[in-house]
Amino acid sequence: MFHEELKPFPEHFLWGSASAAYQVEGAWDSDGKGLSVWDIYAKLPGTTFKDSNGDVAADHYNRYKEDVALMAEMGLKAYRFSIAWARILPEGRGKVNEAGIRFYSDLIDELLSKGIEPVITLYHWDLPQALLDEYGGFESRRIADDFDEYARICFRSFGDRVRYWVSLNEQNIFIGFGYMTGMHPPGVKDKKRMLQANHNAFLANARAIRSFRELVPNGKIGPSFAYSPAYPRTSKPEDILASEDAEEILSHWWMDVYAWGTYPKAAMDLYRSQGIAPEVLPGDLELFREGKPDFMGLNYYQTTTYEANPLDGVGEKLEMNTTGEKGTSKSTGIPGVYRTSANDYLERTNWDWTIDPEGLRVALRRITGRYNLPVLITENGLGEYDKLTGDDKVHDDYRIGYLKAHILACREAVTDGVELLGYCTWSFTDLLSWLNGYQKRYGFVYINREETDLKDLRRVRKDSFHWYRRVIESNGEEL
Ligand code: BG6
Repeated sequence: MFHEELKPFPEHFLWGSASAAYQVEGAWDSDGKGLSVWDIYAKLPGTTFKDSNGDVAADHYNRYKEDVALMAEMGLKAYRFSIAWARILPEGRGKVNEAGIRFYSDLIDELLSKGIEPVITLYHWDLPQALLDEYGGFESRRIADDFDEYARICFRSFGDRVRYWVSLNEQNIFIGFGYMTGMHPPGVKDKKRMLQANHNAFLANARAIRSFRELVPNGKIGPSFAYSPAYPRTSKPEDILASEDAEEILSHWWMDVYAWGTYPKAAMDLYRSQGIAPEVLPGDLELFREGKPDFMGLNYYQTTTYEANPLDGVGEKLEMNTTGEKGTSKSTGIPGVYRTSANDYLERTNWDWTIDPEGLRVALRRITGRYNLPVLITENGLGEYDKLTGDDKVHDDYRIGYLKAHILACREAVTDGVELLGYCTWSFTDLLSWLNGYQKRYGFVYINREETDLKDLRRVRKDSFHWYRRVIESNGEEL
């Protein structure tokens, strides 16, 4: 719908930006930190772009004060970051590493002293390697006990100062890539194992949220879901059904469990008929219901378009464009269910991600309509090649254009009645893109380094930095 006038953003709107431990911190083996699965996986030949890894990343561990000073200069209201589990518990459980607690405690204090609201993500993919070695990580139900223990330590240590928490970041992605496409650790390609690991991740999520209610009663917590709303290719009923199937299999499968504690029926029946449905034990669904979140965290980058796929049609292609060469992505699907298709109305980035601000409004509306939960946008941004000019500037007008259009879509959604708590861009500084090295950049602050050349790791404010400062100052009125 069109509005003649748009509502303003709420008064205490969280204008934020985000990061994740492995992608910014570096200091991979400093001060008692244990190994994470990414510390190992990224060093296996051929797993990442130009063998890049997070050993140094943006060196945020050592430069966090400088980074927080830049956030303060920008007027940021919220900073979302993740805690490296293995910094707190080097073996995944048991003995606590006090230096790890201290680092995050200092970071939180630094943020608060500048009036920036910390938003903590408990898990952004860097599982302690010890837990993978010991019992297969998410493939065992034991993960729920250990994640809960870790979460409780974090709640006790930081819950007095931190109100907003994200439980799991993009469970659909780290489980899908870890156990289905095999592109993330532990590199498994088996859908049955994927669905079981995913079920166990739901247990971990719900246990942590249950503990949160006890230990941080006044805080707010939710998972961050990577939601790519499904569109039908045409108005042909077969395509409509294909896109509804995609929505159910790729999105409701996660969000229904978070919000309602139930798996969607058609998808569960499909998996049962294929003999790959997860084992659900008595009490699991009750636990899921106890783990109902306060908000849905939304990581939005793009929409995906689907069409009908015959029984002998396109199968699941276990690949994605990590080349940065536009137009190299291929169609993928489930025979008899759906296949992805190009959307002629949308531009794409160099990594073939569609650019669709209206899709963000669609996402916000669908979440609100289906779950009636507030939404916190925990990620949205544009990954592009940025160029440092001779006078130490980065003219990223394409990023400004992207963010502007998405913020406008947020405002339209707010006018539609969506309860939007905040908007965190991805990312504050440039950081390591898991499979795309350091050339695919997202930040407001350029980090002077490349995959193999650390250079001086200098921080340079991009044009978008100055632009976002004015957006925040005007509470989103000036775009
Ligand atoms: C999200 C993740 O999937 O997208 C981030 O939460 C990630 O960690 C971001 O960096 C962008 O993805 P990519 O592949 O472009 O780095």
